[in-house]
Amino acid sequence: MRKVVQNVADDFFELLRYDKNRWFEYWKIYRAKHEPLIDEYEKTLNLSEEWIVTLLKNMERRNLDRLMQRWYSISHEQKYHCSRLITAKHELFELKQEEFVIVLTGLLGVKDWVAVKGKREWVIMIDLLSLWNKQQLDELPHVAYQAVLNFKRGERYGDYVPKKELFAKLWNKIEEAFAQKELGKTMEQICKVLYENVPHYNWVGFYLTDPSKRDELVLGPFVGEPTEHVRIPFGRGICGQAAERRATFVVQDVSKETNYLSCSPKVESEIVVPIVVNEEVFGELDIDSHVLNSFDENDKSFLERICEKISQEVRVKG
Ligand code: SME
Repeated sequence: MRKVVQNVADDFFELLRYDKNRWFEYWKIYRAKHEPLIDEYEKTLNLSEEWIVTLLKNMERRNLDRLMQRWYSISHEQKYHCSRLITAKHELFELKQEEFVIVLTGLLGVKDWVAVKGKREWVIMIDLLSLWNKQQLDELPHVAYQAVLNFKRGERYGDYVPKKELFAKLWNKIEEAFAQKELGKTMEQICKVLYENVPHYNWVGFYLTDPSKRDELVLGPFVGEPTEHVRIPFGRGICGQAAERRATFVVQDVSKETNYLSCSPKVESEIVVPIVVNEEVFGELDIDSHVLNSFDENDKSFLERICEKISQEVRVKG
């Protein structure tokens, strides 16, 4: 497959070789070098020449210099993680169609990402300066993921929504899922919402306690690669332990776990949240991630809130 993520930031940092009063002159060289991208970028954001000159005037050499240093030390790794997060959900983004490419570079710090029509395909340009100014450069893989997702939904530019705000926004979509008549459908919809919108959720599914056995979990609705673990006895694996202890389990590095059932060698971290109804485990929400240390307090409380709502629903509907 072609390279989904490209880094052309070097060309932007050339700016630093010029006297500040000649930055606009360099901007035009940069524009010509990346024809038609920069031109289209300016058009998409309605940036007049006058405004561009002002933006360049307001840029601080020292700030740009710091960004360049930081970028040089993390660019390799960040580019790899961007590409990994996006290709992991290639089916969602229809990567085979080669409809778009992601370009990491410096722009004018106006928007975090802008999608423009390039010579061959769409180019989703990510502005490192915009992220740097908001101290979000280290979140680049999530920014890139959101940019692609929103591009596929028809947006042409936007700003990154950090995890905490993203979860607050997603809560509406979770509530919509509860409008479904059957709980199974609600769970299906929840899996879909989580899988699509959260970059580091690579497998999202429910396990439900087998009502005839009460000490075994059965695979319920899920999104992601099929798993061989369709039945898990209480106590076995992360899922079984979470069920037995009726507590959320967060495993930041699955390779360090001894009582663990592997679904895919790509999985690096996992969270399992039980759904407890009248002191009994009704089921649980299980999420795998291809990234180490994926789950923090935001994930935990958001997912526990979802499971609590499912529990209420079960109690009410019986
Ligand atoms: N890893 C889980 C098994 C379920 S799969 O992740 C889908 C476990 O150790 O229980």
